[in-house]
Amino acid sequence: MAARLFFVAASAVALVSAQFPAPPSNPIQGCTTRSFLIPSWLVQDVKRSADGSVSFDVLSRGGGWTACSIQGTAPSNGTLTATAQVAEDSTTFLVNQTWTCNDRGPVMTFSATGNNSAALNFTSPVLIRGSLTSPVAITPQYPEGPEGHDLAGCTARSEKPSWVLSTIHFTDEPGDGVTSTPFQNFNLIVTNPANGYQASCMPGGSLGGTPDLSQLVCAGSEFQSSLTGRHTITTQASFDPATMTFSLNQTWFCDDTDASKPLQINAAGSTVLPLNCTTQPAAGTNQTNRYCSSTGDVDLEGKLGTVVTLQAYSLTDPVAPFGDGCTLTSIFNPAWEFSAFEVDDTNNGGGGSNDTSSSASVSFGIILAAQNRGFQFPIAITQGNATAGAGAGWYECAIGPDGGDDLPLWPYQCVFRYTAATKELQLRADWACRDLDQAHPIYFRGVTTTTVNSTLTCETAGGQSQCTTADPAFTWDAKISNVTWGMAAAAPGDV
Ligand SMILES: *[C@@H]1O[C@H](CO)[C@@H](O)[C@H](O)[C@H]1NC(C)=O
Ligand SMILES: *[C@@H]1O[C@H](CO)[C@@H](O)[C@H](O)[C@H]1NC(C)=O
Ligand SMILES: *[C@@H]1O[C@H](CO)[C@@H](O)[C@H](O)[C@H]1NC(C)=O
Ligand SMILES: *[C@@H]1O[C@H](CO)[C@@H](O)[C@H](O)[C@H]1NC(C)=O
Ligand SMILES: *[C@@H]1O[C@H](CO)[C@@H](O)[C@H](O)[C@H]1NC(C)=O
Ligand SMILES: *[C@@H]1O[C@H](CO)[C@@H](O)[C@H](O)[C@H]1NC(C)=O
Ligand SMILES: *[C@@H]1O[C@H](CO)[C@@H](O)[C@H](O)[C@H]1NC(C)=O
Ligand SMILES: *[C@@H]1O[C@H](CO)[C@@H](O)[C@H](O)[C@H]1NC(C)=O
Ligand SMILES: *[C@@H]1O[C@H](CO)[C@@H](O)[C@H](O)[C@H]1NC(C)=O
Ligand SMILES: *[C@@H]1O[C@H](CO)[C@@H](O)[C@H](O)[C@H]1NC(C)=O
Ligand SMILES: *[C@@H]1O[C@H](CO)[C@@H](O)[C@H](O)[C@H]1NC(C)=O
Repeated sequence: MAARLFFVAASAVALVSAQFPAPPSNPIQGCTTRSFLIPSWLVQDVKRSADGSVSFDVLSRGGGWTACSIQGTAPSNGTLTATAQVAEDSTTFLVNQTWTCNDRGPVMTFSATGNNSAALNFTSPVLIRGSLTSPVAITPQYPEGPEGHDLAGCTARSEKPSWVLSTIHFTDEPGDGVTSTPFQNFNLIVTNPANGYQASCMPGGSLGGTPDLSQLVCAGSEFQSSLTGRHTITTQASFDPATMTFSLNQTWFCDDTDASKPLQINAAGSTVLPLNCTTQPAAGTNQTNRYCSSTGDVDLEGKLGTVVTLQAYSLTDPVAPFGDGCTLTSIFNPAWEFSAFEVDDTNNGGGGSNDTSSSASVSFGIILAAQNRGFQFPIAITQGNATAGAGAGWYECAIGPDGGDDLPLWPYQCVFRYTAATKELQLRADWACRDLDQAHPIYFRGVTTTTVNSTLTCETAGGQSQCTTADPAFTWDAKISNVTWGMAAAAPGDV
């Protein structure tokens, strides 16, 4: 059946109504940062009239909550168009917005578009995740959210909380304090059937001190994934050896019934563990050691604690970044951090002030000077072939092995020139950022001129000299200028 099309929205200002909700608290601050990270909209207050027309409000989550375009005061020349296509069983909302942000200095214009459908009787806000079309064409990635949050039945199963305890082991070696120190260990695996989340628990405080069974440390997938998002599952647990009692308190999340009303669920429970213990006399003492375990799984009934409804769609929202990553650094504050500068010379010129011999080979470490570098470390660059076209003294970068990481913060190709007399280092580099959209890297190019502002100390052996910065840990930042960017990679060798 053909869809009936109703055009509904108009200019940005017309959409602002008296019911416009207070801006929800959002951990991602700054119009520009939000515009790059979560260009998206909430469609709410959907009303259908008898004549079939539809009206609704659009709340922009990228630009729009604070200084951006649709707050009613028209701070920018933004536009927003939204349409609803009503079919027999669903309504599709389409949004296309252009807005500006100036919180990072220069005014930056963003455009984004997106769509989403909802059942005709769906009354909650509808989330539309957008794709940026300008200044770059990317579709920002969202976290997966806390494990199992959208597993079918998560909410229903959480009404009667329970856990399955498995592979339980308890070791008790009292020690005599003379030839042996007391030692206790405890570990088990906790599975929450509501969301399938598994955590492995072990004693806290075991580094150097006595393992603390009253404060077990429980960890699951949340420590392996950077995609968990703003909300993480937390588990507190303890074991009391005197009574063999295990206690658990866990907080988890479900939004399988309606992602616009995500639930934060807390429950706690405790049970005496039915453990089978074997005893052994401790060699050389009058002590008895106990080794206990369970032969099967143990069910633990929980008691529901506080249940909180969180902000709409917040389980899959990104965490507030603690600093600029690759893309925002490259656009607003581009700089390289250099390290491990070294000049090797088989000709024994040693990079001395008059050394122009081509046998001197320069190497250094480099990483984009981003505040948020994830797990990245500088990459080693050594001197490659002399470049034919670039002019005298320019060399290709031979870029070291990247360790297989997906989000490099270093050039994918570059050329450099080092002038020993002035200690001037010039670099022309191409690099790419995938931190916002793994599938659509943004490609950057820029030039750097800097000075190695550290004394070089040289060691010579067998006619070969190695000159390094006096302080081997010396690093310095140097601005990247003339930065250009776009969605196309530079041709290999063209830098
Ligand atoms: C809107 O655009 C006009 C013309 O392009 C410009 O002069 C004006 O400063 C802009 N207003 C804002 C708030 O950006
Ligand atoms: C969004 O609107 C702009 C003009 O405001 C238009 O050029 C563009 O094609 C629109 N994009 C989509 C996907 O409708
Ligand atoms: C709706 O969004 C999807 C991507 O999420 C896109 O492929 C599709 O073209 C959009 N539909 C319309 C009518 O814009
Ligand atoms: C919406 O309608 C469908 C079937 O038409 C029904 O299964 C569902 O429960 C309804 N939802 C609400 C929130 O009324
Ligand atoms: C479980 O932990 C939460 C958060 O720390 C706390 O508010 C709650 O009182 C605890 N519940 C029990 C039964 O200890
Ligand atoms: C074990 O021997 C120590 C002395 O070596 C003694 O003080 C302690 O009472 C004995 N404990 C038991 C349980 O016999
Ligand atoms: C303890 O071990 C015995 C023999 O292996 C077994 O029959 C019994 O079920 C076990 N009890 C528990 C609570 O694991
Ligand atoms: C460098 O060359 C100049 C003149 O060409 C000379 O005076 C000076 O001693 C040389 N310095 C070294 C370290 O060789
Ligand atoms: C340097 O040039 C030689 C000869 O043209 C070539 O075989 C080699 O692959 C080049 N090395 C690098 C690192 O590009
Ligand atoms: C070089 O280092 C010295 C001492 O650390 C410092 O005073 C000077 O400003 C630096 N010069 C440049 C150009 O960074
Ligand atoms: C940067 O760009 C300007 C203008 O295009 C140009 O004059 C200048 O030479 C460039 N600087 C470098 C270091 O390439």
